[in-house]
Amino acid sequence: MSDNKKSDPKLDVLPDEKHLLLDHDYDGIQELNHPLPSWWNFFFYVGILFGVGYFIYYSIMGGPSLREEFKKDYAKVVAAQEEFKKIHSAFKVEKYESVANAEGIKKGEEVFVNNCLPCHAEGGKGDIGPNMTDEYWLVAKGTPETIYNVAFNGSEANGMPAWGEVLTTDEIYLAVAYVMSLKNTHAKGGKEPQGEKIEN
Ligand code: HEC
Repeated sequence: MSDNKKSDPKLDVLPDEKHLLLDHDYDGIQELNHPLPSWWNFFFYVGILFGVGYFIYYSIMGGPSLREEFKKDYAKVVAAQEEFKKIHSAFKVEKYESVANAEGIKKGEEVFVNNCLPCHAEGGKGDIGPNMTDEYWLVAKGTPETIYNVAFNGSEANGMPAWGEVLTTDEIYLAVAYVMSLKNTHAKGGKEPQGEKIEN
């Protein structure tokens, strides 16, 4: 059936493609000239130019390595964290005073139960962490500001986490209000006094 076609390959060329026919054939197979679309060529050459530029910049001119770029970005993250700490670790009396009331203490108790209880135990009587119902203080000095600072920055070498990285500052102020309400309540079965006696 296709014998005829084979003997006359020109039959396979559509009439409107005749002008594309190249003047050679291989065993009767003919070739049409369909050039690549110009957008394709454009991206192809741009790709080559980019590759050359990339090679020159990174391999010859000593452009930064992935590790160096990572270090640079990481330094930015650390600086941003430091900045965040600087802004939020500063104790603000007005903010504390706005939550140092019955409602704030109640909310602070929730924060305490959810986060501090495992170490400071019920009512702050102490377990892994010190008793906060006596007059003795290890790192804080029994004032809202010092309690806030310890809660925000932690005392990580001794196992007290830095809550500034976990809780919002609002939650920390509430927890401080609750801890202040425990002061000198001498919870029954509390942990033995630790640190310095501070009466205030
Ligand atoms: C993983 C255990 C752990 C958790 C959870 C924990 N603490 Fe502590 N906390 C400690 C330890 C341990 C210390 C003593 C640190 C030291 O000796 O430097 C401490 C000390 C403190 C102090 C200083 C007490 C003092 O005597 O000077 C305050 C205030 C405090 N924690 C508040 C909190 C608050 C608020 C939370 C919850 C948001 C909390 N802690 C959660 C372990 C913990």
